[in-house]
Amino acid sequence: MPRASATTLESECTLAERAALTAVLRDKGYTGAHLEVGTAAGGTLKELMGVYDADSRPPFFVVDPMTYFDDQLAKVKTNLTGAGIDPETVTFWIGTTQDHLPPARAAGQRFDFIFLDGDHRHYPTTVDLGWADLVTLGGTICLHDRTEKFPGVGWSIDRFLDRNPAYRFVSQTDSLVILEKTAEAARQAVTTADLWAASWAQRKFKTARSIRRRLGR
Ligand SMILES: C[S@@+](CC[C@H](N)C(=O)[O-])C[C@H]1O[C@@H](n2cnc3c(N)ncnc32)[C@H](O)[C@@H]1O
Repeated sequence: MPRASATTLESECTLAERAALTAVLRDKGYTGAHLEVGTAAGGTLKELMGVYDADSRPPFFVVDPMTYFDDQLAKVKTNLTGAGIDPETVTFWIGTTQDHLPPARAAGQRFDFIFLDGDHRHYPTTVDLGWADLVTLGGTICLHDRTEKFPGVGWSIDRFLDRNPAYRFVSQTDSLVILEKTAEAARQAVTTADLWAASWAQRKFKTARSIRRRLGR
């Protein structure tokens, strides 16, 4: 069954979540680069980019394996074009954070705004929070799908906030969580210990879920 966004090309965020995302961009007036991790058909991407005029829009980057549905990258580009946005102005990094964070870090890339909406399990969400090291002071990280269905998102956010005092919780709208970087970080945002803990939590959750299913609960 193909994803609805593959045919509608619409955002997978609710109206309220999209309003919260675009309000951040309007309020902050960021000029540095923006990153979306996990774009589906680019439905939210086109709304984020649409906040800015073409001639003053900050650079936009997307990280996505582009295997969510057939011809995903072509559909994202068609979607942007339909919204009057030149897809050639977006840097598409095909793959995951593990592929693209190390070279971006080595190149000194920085981001004012990051929207994480890729693989919602514990381990990949924690890996994606590693982009926090590249966020500028006053920058924002948003995470989608903090819900019971995706416990990995809430687990990763809670652990991240516990261990990263440079970030503060700003708000939650539906399943969208907004965090702000309020100080320079004293440590790497995601450590090896965080990754081990995420891997363990993910396995524990998967085992508990399969036991519940076998028991018919
Ligand atoms: C829930 S959809 C994103 C929805 C989109 N942000 C929106 O608002 O419409 C998830 C996306 O994450 C991508 N994805 C899956 N695993 C990923 C990973 N490890 N890193 C980055 N993107 C990933 C999928 O290809 C898919 O495009």
